[in-house]
Amino acid sequence: MPLVAGAAEWLASTPLSQAMRGSLWLYPVVETVHIFGFAVLVGAVALFDLRVLGCARTLPVRTLGRHLLRWALASLLLVVPAGALLFASQPLEFIANPVFRLKLALLAAAGLNAACFHAGVYRNAAAWDVGHPAPPLARAQAALSLLLWVALITCGRMLAYV
Ligand code: HEM
Repeated sequence: MPLVAGAAEWLASTPLSQAMRGSLWLYPVVETVHIFGFAVLVGAVALFDLRVLGCARTLPVRTLGRHLLRWALASLLLVVPAGALLFASQPLEFIANPVFRLKLALLAAAGLNAACFHAGVYRNAAAWDVGHPAPPLARAQAALSLLLWVALITCGRMLAYV
C-alpha cells in the first residue's frame, strides 16, 4: 500500500486535483457526467440481463445485445474518466475508504462475469435467440450481473456518507 499511498499523495498535489477540490462547479459537472454515463451503462446492461432472464422473448437476444452493448461500451468513455477525475479530487481519502475499494472490486467482478458470459454461453445464443428460454448458466450470469451492478451503484451512492 505504501506505493499506492505515495501515488495518491502525488496525485493530491497536482493542479488537476487542486482544481477538482477548489472549483465551485467542476466537481458537480464531472459528477453529472459520471451519473449520466453509468445511467446509460447500467440501463443498457440491465435491459439485456432482463431479456436473458426471459422478459420480452419475442425480441431476438443477439439483435438486442448488439444494440445495447454498443451503448454500454460507449458509456464507459464517460463513466471511467469522470470517475477517475472524481477520485483525483481526494485520492488519499478514497483509497482509505472500504466502500470505494468494494466498489472497484464489484466493478472488476461485473466485468469478469460479462467477459465469461460473452466468451462462453453467449456464443450459442443462436439456439435461444427468440422464443426459447436461455440456458440456466446464462440466466444465472444475468441474475449475478444485475446483483453486482445494483451493489456497485449502492456503493457509489454510499461514498458520500462513509
Ligand atoms: C463503471 C461503473 C460505475 C458505476 C455504476 C458508478 C456509480 C457511481 C455512483 C452511483 C456514484 C454516486 C453518485 C451520486 O449519487 O452522487 C458514484 C460516485 C463516484 N464514483 Fe463511480 N461508478 C462507476 C465507476 C467509477 C470508477 C471507475 C471510479 C474511479 C476510478 C469511480 C469513482 C467515483 C467517485 C470518486 C465518486 C464520488 C463520490 C462522491 O462524491 O460522493 N466510479 N459512482
